[in-house]
Amino acid sequence: MEEAAVVIVGAGPAGLATSACLNKLFIPNIVLERDDSHSSLWKKRTYDRLKLHLGKEFCNLPHTPFPRSAPTFVPRIEFLRYLDNYVSRFNIIIRCNRSVESASLESNGRWKIIAKDTSSNATEVYIASFLVVATGENSSGYIPKVTGLDAYGGEYLHCNKYLNGRKWYGKNVLVVGCGNSGMEIAYDLSNWGVNASIVVRHPVHILTKEMVYVGMHLLKFLPVKVVDIIILMMCILMYRNLSKYGLRRPKEGPFFLKGKTGHSPTIDVGCVPKIKKGEIKVFPGVSNIKDKIVEFDDGRQEQFDAIIFATGYRSTVLKWLKDYKLLFDENGMPKQRPPNHWKGESGIYCAGFSRQGLAGISQDAQRIANDIHLGIVSRIPPTLAPVKEMEEIVMAKNM
Ligand SMILES: Cc1cc2nc3c(=O)[nH]c(=O)nc-3n(C[C@H](O)[C@H](O)[C@H](O)COP(=O)(O)OP(=O)(O)OC[C@H]3O[C@@H](n4cnc5c(N)ncnc54)[C@H](O)[C@@H]3O)c2cc1C
Ligand SMILES: *[C@@H]1O[C@H](CO)[C@@H](O)[C@H](O)[C@H]1NC(C)=O
Ligand SMILES: *[C@@H]1O[C@H](CO)[C@@H](O)[C@H](O)[C@H]1NC(C)=O
Ligand SMILES: *[C@@H]1O[C@H](CO)[C@@H](O)[C@H](O)[C@H]1NC(C)=O
Ligand SMILES: *[C@@H]1O[C@H](CO)[C@@H](O)[C@H](O)[C@H]1NC(C)=O
Ligand SMILES: *[C@@H]1O[C@H](CO)[C@@H](O)[C@H](O)[C@H]1NC(C)=O
Repeated sequence: MEEAAVVIVGAGPAGLATSACLNKLFIPNIVLERDDSHSSLWKKRTYDRLKLHLGKEFCNLPHTPFPRSAPTFVPRIEFLRYLDNYVSRFNIIIRCNRSVESASLESNGRWKIIAKDTSSNATEVYIASFLVVATGENSSGYIPKVTGLDAYGGEYLHCNKYLNGRKWYGKNVLVVGCGNSGMEIAYDLSNWGVNASIVVRHPVHILTKEMVYVGMHLLKFLPVKVVDIIILMMCILMYRNLSKYGLRRPKEGPFFLKGKTGHSPTIDVGCVPKIKKGEIKVFPGVSNIKDKIVEFDDGRQEQFDAIIFATGYRSTVLKWLKDYKLLFDENGMPKQRPPNHWKGESGIYCAGFSRQGLAGISQDAQRIANDIHLGIVSRIPPTLAPVKEMEEIVMAKNM
């Protein structure tokens, strides 16, 4: 059994950022990671051609901007290098191969965390005053129920297993879902010589990376409605009316919808021009599957050798967190909407659950570290609190 002030579950960007902020405040913490290294999503469960979709100034972790020489849209490998440097720069110590199986609040108000060492099967118990959940919104791939999928005659997978399209050269592959992953994977498949099709069920805002980048900067000094009008005008100039290709736009603007529902617009990295040229076909929702034949909601039937589901992710918090109700709802997402999502009762916090990507993660980490710091210091009688610590609180508040 081991004791620590703080236990952080998950060593993705959110866990790393929180640990770094705690280390800066000299608060001891233990990071538990089920995989054999940090940032396993980015190392193992993302496709080869991925770059950060947002500009680098919106994607850095606390206290460490990307270097001036880094490209605006940082490629996956360069981001991994950034994360490796981050780990060494802030002396983040990660216990890998530790899968957290349960966490519960003891009657004495402390958290008991049980982890399995996946290389030896040994069970470890940690006791902590504070628990930070950083297992991610993108913890497991979600595949919707489709009639006949179990008996499908081809191969199907979630997009978190997709690396590139090499093995389907010359084959027919269907991508289900038109978010960032779906649109980019359909484009990537096509570039690998695959006959790619994509399912687009709902109206969707499609923007370029550059439009999102401009929009995010304009939002600093213009209201959302105005930014949406400017960006939609750019869309009309760039794309014209896409509805004859099966791509309709929602009634409300892209940034307004992001704020209201948390759904991001889809970023086009080259899929739309291919759709216009007829190189990628668009289909409506899938109604059922028979052997290798997929039937769509409009009655069309086509044969596919593989189906890739880019249909989103689910949080897996409920699988291991016993007293989840202190912070999470029945879907394993925070009960409170941002900006009040990150703190629960009895010393539990979450980092990386605001649907605001790395920028949201960076904010969560700083708020959590500062709050834990205040929590610790307020337990020390004021006369005993060292002056240095008080100075840090003031600094932390101003950060
Ligand atoms: C394809 C893709 C592209 C993205 N691109 C961008 C982008 O360009 N810009 C942006 O801002 N955001 C982007 N995001 C969103 C977000 O920033 C990333 O998903 C980011 O990695 C989230 O970090 P995280 O630490 O919250 O979660 P994760 O990176 O998922 O890390 C969670 C960690 O917890 C571990 N874990 C889970 N369960 C347990 C357990 N029970 N015990 C121990 N460890 C556990 C996992 O192994 C994992 O290492 C993207 C997401 C995806 C999927
Ligand atoms: C974690 O497990 C993997 C595979 O089981 C093993 O190769 C690796 O050495 C382990 N790492 C640590 C730090 O124990
Ligand atoms: C751990 O447990 C799994 C399944 O329970 C078993 O397959 C594996 O061999 C065990 N590993 C060790 C090192 O005991
Ligand atoms: C786009 O074209 C469709 C018909 O093809 C039409 O119904 C729709 O109103 C048009 N949208 C815009 C914004 O012009
Ligand atoms: C590509 O796939 C679509 C949809 O399945 C199909 O209609 C078309 O015939 C295929 N093209 C080729 C050249 O196989
Ligand atoms: C998961 O990752 C995607 C990026 O691919 C992001 O847009 C989404 O908000 C994340 N969260 C969930 C719950 O899917």
